[in-house]
Amino acid sequence: MRARRMAGLVVVLAIVVGLGAGGGAQAAPLAALADAEVQARVDALLAGLSLEEKIGQLNQAGALPFPGSPKIEDVVSTGGAGSVLWLNDTKKFNELQKIAVEQSPSKIPLLFGLDVIHGYRTIFPVPLAMASSWDPDVPERAQTVAAREARAAGIHWTFGPMVDIARDARWGRIVEGAGEDPFLGAAMAAAQVRGFQGPTFGAEDRLVACAKHFAGYGASDGGRDYDPVYLPETQLRNVYLPPFQAAVKAGVGTFMGAYMDLNNVPASGNSFLLRDVLKGEWGFQGFVVSDARAVANLVTQGFARDGRDAAYRALHAGLDMDMASNTYPQHLAGLVADGTLKAAEIDDAVRRILTIKVRMGLFEHPYTDESLLAKVVASPEHNKEARWAAQRSMVLLRNEGKTLPLSKDLENVAVIGPLADSQDATDGSWLVFGHTSNAVTVLQGIKAKLPNARVEHAPGPEIRREFPSFFEAFMPGPKKAPQTPEEAEAAFQQAVATARAADTVVMVLGESANMAGEAASRASLDLPGRQQELLEAVVALEKPVVLVLLNGRPLAVAWAAEHVPAILEAWEPGSAGGHAVADILFGDVNPGGKLPVTFPRKTGQTPIYYARNLTHSPEGRPMYSQRYWDGAVAPLYPFGFGLSYTTFSIADLKVSAPQVKLGEEVTVTADVANTGSVAGDEVVQLYIHQKAGRDSRPMRELKGFERVTLRPGEKRTVAFRLGPDELRYWSTSAGAWVQDAEAFDVWVGADSTATLSASFTVVP
Ligand code: NOJ
Repeated sequence: MRARRMAGLVVVLAIVVGLGAGGGAQAAPLAALADAEVQARVDALLAGLSLEEKIGQLNQAGALPFPGSPKIEDVVSTGGAGSVLWLNDTKKFNELQKIAVEQSPSKIPLLFGLDVIHGYRTIFPVPLAMASSWDPDVPERAQTVAAREARAAGIHWTFGPMVDIARDARWGRIVEGAGEDPFLGAAMAAAQVRGFQGPTFGAEDRLVACAKHFAGYGASDGGRDYDPVYLPETQLRNVYLPPFQAAVKAGVGTFMGAYMDLNNVPASGNSFLLRDVLKGEWGFQGFVVSDARAVANLVTQGFARDGRDAAYRALHAGLDMDMASNTYPQHLAGLVADGTLKAAEIDDAVRRILTIKVRMGLFEHPYTDESLLAKVVASPEHNKEARWAAQRSMVLLRNEGKTLPLSKDLENVAVIGPLADSQDATDGSWLVFGHTSNAVTVLQGIKAKLPNARVEHAPGPEIRREFPSFFEAFMPGPKKAPQTPEEAEAAFQQAVATARAADTVVMVLGESANMAGEAASRASLDLPGRQQELLEAVVALEKPVVLVLLNGRPLAVAWAAEHVPAILEAWEPGSAGGHAVADILFGDVNPGGKLPVTFPRKTGQTPIYYARNLTHSPEGRPMYSQRYWDGAVAPLYPFGFGLSYTTFSIADLKVSAPQVKLGEEVTVTADVANTGSVAGDEVVQLYIHQKAGRDSRPMRELKGFERVTLRPGEKRTVAFRLGPDELRYWSTSAGAWVQDAEAFDVWVGADSTATLSASFTVVP
């Protein structure tokens, strides 16, 4: 069956229906939230609130017992919080809610927020992996399940999707987004909003979504988390903002401001972003929450003079809710009293928050049935969804001599590496508070697939961060002491001996879960620890070796790409990940994912992305010219790349007309055929290049894609529509969105280096 249609695609085919009402449905645009009836209720509520009560609504209180922070019960009972975060306990939610609706002065229910990023109990592949499916149904169905489980626990609001474009794999948070491309990113952003929120805003098995981090966070200097970002408006609007706008169009209820300075103005105090673009140009009617402590940090960042100045500048810039910094409660009343802030500015922010609460049905249903979660998470259907999502997210990077799929008759297999039996690495980064893993590891998945074989495991030397994560302080349980060099050496030798004794070796290498994510940037993209050395020692044994990568970012695995016959990029595949890996390794599933990010050969190539502009010296046309004297400029694996157990041809590219008028559409078609002997998926990708114009444009830009499943010998025509939305761009020269009457090249193929091309011209 064919995946859900992408924007720009005109072929109407069967739609993969998601769980319940989720699949393919459009969420109501948030503009509809402000309809007359809701507004009448919000007006009535607002009219009954004192200034203090209003300010309480603008505060999101953290429930973690930080030293010196007030008891959350006291904050709620005095009306000091409109929302609570960092709590994951249904009973406690109900207790706090009771305090809010019965004891607080305003009696307004609380909105409970938590980071539900890729699953609540059933863990789905990390978002970067889901983007590798190139199938928006994957994140939509995943977030439908995540919402159902989290809502059953009493959570109303997730801080997701993260829709930051990331072109520098050193940046740890690349794992949370959809990679480097605005078109793919926009599709994944909208799909996640649909999944979290569902077709009817406020449905009782859905969450309010939050598009974050607005905006530009992924472009931090040097890939260092939180570092400043300098983005000219052309980059911001053409590359970094489209996924956010797609989230608004899909009806997202909330936004989160980013931490960092954008062009020297912190995103949380940035009225260009929040007032001009988001609430002005895009007409966003939901509310904006800060990132954690970001309002207070306006002082730390050297922007605001003091807390009072920070509160003023954030609220005035359009930031409606203060996450856990307590700056709004301390200063807003004084700022209104002396006329620095207008009461109307406070009212606007409160109105936005109350609108969401009314739309959520919180006034009618403030509590959560404490027996619900156990029933909801027990669903075998959720596990099936997680396995399906993981299967569709994996990318086959190499398969020399048809090493894969492996035979199920194998009798003696070694599964080697520190991640082979790691539930943490299988679940991946960003789990909800208090999650106890039930992940199936790769080792378990292989054992389940080969019940009668001898399957031996040796982890080899452990891997760990050189500097621990800030978040480790919050992890329960005793901390494990690092391996001594002697212990590591013994583990190394044990792993090589285990491999030597086997007929086939599966190496499971990459990064542990805490090596990607927030505050998890790296200066190197090499395999951490002694993994590279172990890989080389095992390959030297001259056995069939398969490398399974578990990681949250592109890694510079150039040696493996030359010396290991088969490589499967499994990412951080979630709770059913081990089964999904085994399904692919043993041929029950044919991999069809494609990279949503470019893989560099060396760390020094970063940032690296396909949509670069041409230069005056475009040697090696069309894609990668020689730019370094100490290494290739071409990436290890290009954007959009991924192999299959079958082969495909893409041919017969046609453009509906050689010339179209400005504002008109052109249709591009091509035939894709399965030329191999097993069924499989190909992601047909359309790229364009505008050859001249008011500004130079990238040498290639993705403007359409479709994942198709074909039986051996089956052929299908895919069609993409290119209209003004796809052909316009924000021009530096014009200082505006423009569409130029110019010539275009188009390419259709299986990755961003596609060679099948045609052209057309837009005329005035
Ligand atoms: C900080 C992170 O940057 C953000 O993504 C997250 O949602 C908040 N903390 C809340 O946990």
